[in-house]
Amino acid sequence: MTTNIILLGPPGAGKGTQARKLTEDRGLVQLSTGDMLREARKSSTETGKRVAEVMDRGELVTDEIVIDLIRERIQAGGSGFIFDGFPRTLVQADALRELMEEQGQTIAAVIEMSVDDDQLVKRISGRFTCGGCGEVYHDTSRPTQVSGSCDDCGSEQLLRRPDDNAESLRTRLMEYYKKTSPLVGYFWREGKLHRVNGLQSIGNVSADVNRLMEGLSEREAL
Ligand code: AP5
Repeated sequence: MTTNIILLGPPGAGKGTQARKLTEDRGLVQLSTGDMLREARKSSTETGKRVAEVMDRGELVTDEIVIDLIRERIQAGGSGFIFDGFPRTLVQADALRELMEEQGQTIAAVIEMSVDDDQLVKRISGRFTCGGCGEVYHDTSRPTQVSGSCDDCGSEQLLRRPDDNAESLRTRLMEYYKKTSPLVGYFWREGKLHRVNGLQSIGNVSADVNRLMEGLSEREAL
């Protein structure tokens, strides 16, 4: 599978959850700028410290930093990428187009996951993640089978993100509506936009995404 796709949606829409399922089901490669930045913030460099402050406030990290991270991954080669949380600005969208062209690749589809704000707040406030393998859970909609340990890797390190609080979520939503939502029009004009109802259960969203992927594979085979 060589198809590259973008998952677009506000914080808590389920991008990470669906990207991990696509990786398991179809062997695609998840490129999450959020995960890359969480890794970068662990370093004690000035950039690492600045990234941590910006993320905790819920604002967007500079285009330059994020584009550099993505450039490194794309230029390392490969295909079948799921861009999760990137691009988030028009500058990032243009940069991605150029980077893909340089590698002789394209974006086959952009899947917009729509969820209303009340649900986003509920999802974000109940989210926890496995520190061992990164699996994403939720207190009510996706709890672990055995309390206190990850279903996938058994790790007992279950973490809540520092930016998953009411104040930073308000900023994250504002950032999304101001800077990221214009990308809906951008990709619609390119004829790449597909919408999935992200309010459905995780399984039903996944079924819709997989149907879409089947359509793309058939087109690719023609
Ligand atoms: P990032 O890590 O990308 O966070 P985000 O976009 O805010 O998205 P989330 O990870 O919060 O949500 P998600 O859509 O992945 O939902 P999930 O699957 O976890 O970015 C974090 C920060 O990094 C940004 O604020 C910014 O500072 C910086 N950053 C990252 N990329 C950047 C960029 N390109 N440019 C600049 N800055 C950047 O699901 C959420 C919860 O809901 C989970 O608990 C899950 O179990 C549950 N759930 C999922 N689907 C369903 C469902 N269908 N039904 C019920 N529950 C569900």
